[in-house]
Order: sequence, then C-alpha cells, then structure tokens
Amino acid sequence: MSRKALFLTDNNVLGDVFAANLKAYVDLHVETVDSLEGFEANAKGPWDLFISISMITEQDAAKEAYGIVKGGNKDTPFIVVGQKSELSNTSEVVTIAGNLDIKSLVKTVAGIFKISAKDMMSIEVPEHFPMPIKLFQYLDSAPCDVFVQTNKNAKAPEFAKVWEKGVIRRHVIKEYIDRGIEFLFVPAADRLKVINVASTQVVEALDNPELSKEEKLDLLEQGFEVVAARLTDNPKVSAEVVTISKKCIEQVTEVIKEFPKLKSLLAGLAENKSRYLYFHSILATYICNHVVKYISWGGEGHSEKISFVLYFHDIFLVPIYNKYPQFKFEEELVFNNLLTDKEKEVVVGHARMAGELVKTFPRVPMGADAIVTQHHGVTSGSGFTLDYRDDVSPLAKVIIIAEAFVDEIITVKDDGGTPDRTAILASLRAKFPRHTYIKIIDTLENLPI
Ligand SMILES: [Fe+2]
Ligand SMILES: [Fe+2]
Repeated sequence: MSRKALFLTDNNVLGDVFAANLKAYVDLHVETVDSLEGFEANAKGPWDLFISISMITEQDAAKEAYGIVKGGNKDTPFIVVGQKSELSNTSEVVTIAGNLDIKSLVKTVAGIFKISAKDMMSIEVPEHFPMPIKLFQYLDSAPCDVFVQTNKNAKAPEFAKVWEKGVIRRHVIKEYIDRGIEFLFVPAADRLKVINVASTQVVEALDNPELSKEEKLDLLEQGFEVVAARLTDNPKVSAEVVTISKKCIEQVTEVIKEFPKLKSLLAGLAENKSRYLYFHSILATYICNHVVKYISWGGEGHSEKISFVLYFHDIFLVPIYNKYPQFKFEEELVFNNLLTDKEKEVVVGHARMAGELVKTFPRVPMGADAIVTQHHGVTSGSGFTLDYRDDVSPLAKVIIIAEAFVDEIITVKDDGGTPDRTAILASLRAKFPRHTYIKIIDTLENLPI
C-alpha cells in the first residue's frame, strides 16, 4: 500500500504540484488541508509524513502544526516548506525551500523513506505545449496530464506536473491566476484534446442565463483563446471555428452594451486579469461602437461588422504573445531581437493573413475582410505605417483610431495614472493629422469615460 502524507498549505498551486509529483515519483499519496483547523481535525489519521508550509499569512503555521502532532505522532517525519518558521532549519524537522523546486522535494522525501533512485518511478518527460490558463477554467476534468512551469527561464524552462489526467481543480484556477500563472502546459501530442473539450464547455457555458456581465466577459475570453488555439493549429476556418466565433461575436456585441462607461468595462477586464490581445480588442470594439453612433456616415448596422473585425484582426499574433508574454504593443513585436525571423514575418503579415482567413468565413459581414487587412493603415496588410492616409476604408480608420486610443489608455494605466481624455485626444490629433481621421477623433470628445 502506498504511503500517505498530510500537507498543510494555503497555496493551492504548491499543494497540487507537490501532490502530483510525490505521487508520480515516490508513490506517496498527499492530502492537503488549507488551515490549521483542518490540519488538527485530520492529524490523527495514519500518516507516514507531515508537510507544512512555514507561514500562513502572519502565522507560524509550521510551528503550530508541529505542536499539534508532537503528542501522538512524534516519530512521524515532518517537513517544513520555507525558511520563515521558527522551526525552519532546526534539527526537529526537515526543511526545504519554499518554491516549486521539485527535484529537491522528491530527493528529500525519497531520503526520508529510503527509496533508492532505482526504485523511483521513471517518468517520461513529454514536450510541453503552453495553454492559456483560462482554457482550463471550464473543464470538469483534464483530458491529459497538466504541467506548470517552475522557473522563469525562457531558454531552459522546467516543468512540474500539477494535475494528473482526469483530476482538475477548477475552483482554484482563479487563485492560480492571482498568483501570476498565465499558462499551464500539456504534452504537445495532447493539445488538441484540451482545445476540443474547452471548446465544447465554453459554448455550453455561454448559454447559461445566470452569468453576470463580468463573467460573460471572462467566458468570452476563453472562447477567444479556443478560436485562436484552433486557428494556430490549423489556419483554416472549420465548422467548429465558425460556430464558436459566431456565438462569441454576437455575445461581445451584446455584453459591451451592458457597460455604460469605459471605466466599468476596464474594471471588468482588469478583474478578470484579461491578457493584452483580448483586453485591447474588447476595448477597441467598445470605442468603435461609440464612434459609429456619432459620426455622420455611421449607424447601428456597423456594430456586427466591428465586433467581427476586431475579434479576428490580431488572431495570428496569439501564439506569438503566448510565447513572449513580456510584450504588449504590436510594434514591440517588430523592434526586438527575441523573435525569430519567421515569427517576425507573421507579425509583419498578420493583418494580411487575418484578412485572407476572414474572406473564407461563411456569410462574412460585407467588407470585413478588407477592414481586417487594413487595420494598420496599410492597404496590402503587410507591415505598419506612421503615415495614415485616406486610401483605407472609413471603418478601418475608425478601428485604427480606436486601437490607438486603447493603447494610450493602457500606457497611462501601466504608468499608474488615470487616463485623461484631453491629453489622449491631443496626442491622437498629432498622430493622425488628416481631416477624415480628425473627424473620428472629434466624436470621442463625448465618449463616456
Ligand atoms: Fe494588428
Ligand atoms: Fe490590434
């Protein structure tokens, strides 16, 4: 029978990673509790090992937990995770680092139980494929093993298993996101399985009438990730891509109407920890809708087209942003020496590629493909320009202005400031001096910020 350990930790990521890896490498079954009360209630059981994180908020959790077991289970080994407890590095306990250093964890536990390296399970390490963590939020079970990156080294990444196939701790994903985890990893060969399951779940969840507008916004981001992942894998419009993106686009158009002011939409996106591409597409959609309401040639009929265009316009940049999460603005992707030549080719051609993709979409809103192609102000869709001219379609100009406005907002926010309309509009007028663009910028004077 396999050995059992009780692990006190309020950090679910640590709990999941320790549990999955100790099970895999040394056949130790780990149960986690997240409070001292939970620990005390369970401490009596037949445990072979206790593990405790050193501190929970301000409390010396390891010391307290050790106090609880000292009476009955005196001889059971006790591991303290982290250096901050009074017990850390004393002879009474075994102390390990408070990070996700799996190698030393496994080595320590193997040492305690005198398990030889030969007896340790040999685990094949698959090639890891990044998946935005939000894709896991609606999964009931994982169709394959799931991993987390345990170091920050992009050149030599290390991974640890976080869940076995089947097990998923969907209720803790928010905590994972709060801890700054943007991606989980799956074996490259299994990536389609995950996308398939996520795709079905998102479509079903969107029909839930009880979703709040913020939840809907979050769900739509997952839909966006699914579509992007599908198209990255195979840049052809499949029936499934049509179904899910149509559904999402309809809902985007609806949900942004529920946000009376830009500020509330910004807050909703920030609360969901939305990533840049989705964040800026949704904000730009919101702003474009305002413009076409007030510009002389505009009208309600443009809404669907705008949502459609902004949903797809940067879709080919998604895998690049996934690989280089340190970048934000599209120009940054060109002027750096990290991207490979091939990746830069995609960046330069992303508008043209997206335009071609959209063209193959059934019943595409009229002219949407041309607007997608022109969204950086270049009629061919290749490259970026600083000289914004009149040879692009009027709606493309609206989108260009909206995206520029959004980038200004994001820049101000990133610097810790509050967006100021007058300053933003002044900078836009300087950047887009032509008359037709100025007219669009003028309509933003009454944008409800
Ligand atoms: Fe773009
Ligand atoms: Fe964009």
